[in-house]
Amino acid sequence: MPLPDSFLEELKARSDITDIVSSYVQLKRRGRNMVGLCPFHHEKTPSFNLYPENGSFYCFGCGAGGDVITFIRRIENLDYMEAVRFLAQRAGIPVPEERVDDGMARLRTRVLEINRESARFFHRFLMGEEGKAGLAYLTNRGLSLRTIRHFGLGFSPPGRFTLCDHLRKAGYTEDEMITANVAFRSRSGRAMDRFHDRVMYPIIDLRGNVVAFGGRILTDEKPKYINTNDTPVYHKSNGLFAMNFAKNAEAGYLILAEGYMDVIALHQAGFPQAIASLGTSLTAEQARLMSRYTKEVVICYDADGAGQKATARAMPILRDAGLLVRVLTVPDGKDPDEFIRSHGEKGPILFKKLLETCSNDVEYRLQKLKDQQNIQTESGRVQYLNAAAEVLSEIENPIERDVYAGRLAEETGVERSSVLLLLRQLDRKRVKTRRRQELRQEQQELSAVKDRVNPEKKDHLRAAAAEEGLIVYLFDHPDDAGKIREKIPPEKFCTAFNRRVYASLLEKIGTGTSVSLSDLSESLTVDEMASVAHMLARRHEAPLTRRDVGELIGVILAESESLGREGIKKATDEELALQLLKIREQKNRRN
Ligand code: UTP
Ligand code: MN
Repeated sequence: MPLPDSFLEELKARSDITDIVSSYVQLKRRGRNMVGLCPFHHEKTPSFNLYPENGSFYCFGCGAGGDVITFIRRIENLDYMEAVRFLAQRAGIPVPEERVDDGMARLRTRVLEINRESARFFHRFLMGEEGKAGLAYLTNRGLSLRTIRHFGLGFSPPGRFTLCDHLRKAGYTEDEMITANVAFRSRSGRAMDRFHDRVMYPIIDLRGNVVAFGGRILTDEKPKYINTNDTPVYHKSNGLFAMNFAKNAEAGYLILAEGYMDVIALHQAGFPQAIASLGTSLTAEQARLMSRYTKEVVICYDADGAGQKATARAMPILRDAGLLVRVLTVPDGKDPDEFIRSHGEKGPILFKKLLETCSNDVEYRLQKLKDQQNIQTESGRVQYLNAAAEVLSEIENPIERDVYAGRLAEETGVERSSVLLLLRQLDRKRVKTRRRQELRQEQQELSAVKDRVNPEKKDHLRAAAAEEGLIVYLFDHPDDAGKIREKIPPEKFCTAFNRRVYASLLEKIGTGTSVSLSDLSESLTVDEMASVAHMLARRHEAPLTRRDVGELIGVILAESESLGREGIKKATDEELALQLLKIREQKNRRN
């Protein structure tokens, strides 16, 4: 049951694409369009275009595109209905009778319910008689009951079927439990608990849903943690532990720690701005998520070798998301949790001091480089200078750059002008390689997207281009739909994808006089929407005229003719059935 048109009309009217995209992307006006840095791929020069006139966006870099609903689907990681709900909520209009037959949405709801029920179950178990060992473990690690409740920590029973039995009684099927990844199918075919005898850390998303768990064993056995794998409601690559709390902390920055326990200890010590990326090395998605809530991130990973490596990896990812980065190194090789605990009552104050004095990432990296060289010797100085210049050349702010160049000149006893010259040389090199990389990546991504959406295009380049032109023309001139349809019915289109778009456009226009990209949003996937947005974006600067249309139709018909002769044989059953249906429809209409 599709959503009523009147509702979609109102939703579209109240969801101005410029407003909505602006809260994620900094847009600048360029002629009739707006441009900005694409939020869907990493770039330094803007190739993300917004077309307020027709309510579409398209990125010439990565090929992302579509209408406002597609934008929300992609950026918030939602399916179509969820994106509609998201926008409706924002606009303050009620969604008409929710559709119950939406399979995927229903499964997600079930998985979320299972997660919530499991979290409650684990928490009750921790607090009960049988949870003593778990509770003792957590309190020994310095957590108060209040903290344990705040984070909803729990304990998974030692049995192998305890949770599954509980969930079954609560009305969930084994398949649902397995989809939620709280259970797995054992060799005997029965669903078995995935977590047992572990303290349980629930992971909660920004909307307050329990989306996953981490379970830590109480001993030194391996594996130390078992985590929820990706499920319909959870993707490791964009999960951030405690972000549900940290997004409301008003510190003005986030603390990025390595482990669950570090984050919990930090919150307990009065730093609710602490979060952790979960067991994976930091991803660009996670960095983007952070950048929506803050401008600055303090990396506070473990002081061991692995932690320092992870720090070096995380810095450029955060910087690329537009974040200011500082690095806090906990003294004495401790992790933040150990540091705070080892100082007892003074822990929080001392940690606050570390936060206030920690250096930004440039200083941190320069210090690291300096530690590696003996700058008393000439060769040590040269090596340091070259390596340091590499670091400085990454700084984009000219003032910041100048300050460090001056400092570097002083440290190494080299003329400041020579340092600046070195930087300019590195700049040129960097720009060249970056352009080459970006170009290569863009081309790969673009062609990958196109081939997937319209695989027949490569065999009918001319006709497909003409079909696309016609589609774009229809968007701008829905009044001509009737006339165009007479000259070229959808069956004549050579590529199935364009045929589908064309047919549904004609249908949407119907007797009306307007149509927008959003009218296709429900029936097309995110990639398909991008492909249509691309057609619109490409033609934006040079709109087609009525005279062009005749020519386009000619091209399509010619190709269609030559296809027709051999095509009938190749047509799939489905296509033939569709064809029959249409012929019948036309007959009915005439009767
Ligand atoms: P750590 O080994 O530093 O664990 O891993 P920790 O959180 O400090 O744990 P404690 O203090 O020993 O209790 C850091 C993070 O890496 C992930 C977890 O998210 C952990 O919090 N990790 C680690 C795993 O996912 N699996 C593992 O086996 C180990
Ligand atoms: Mn630890």
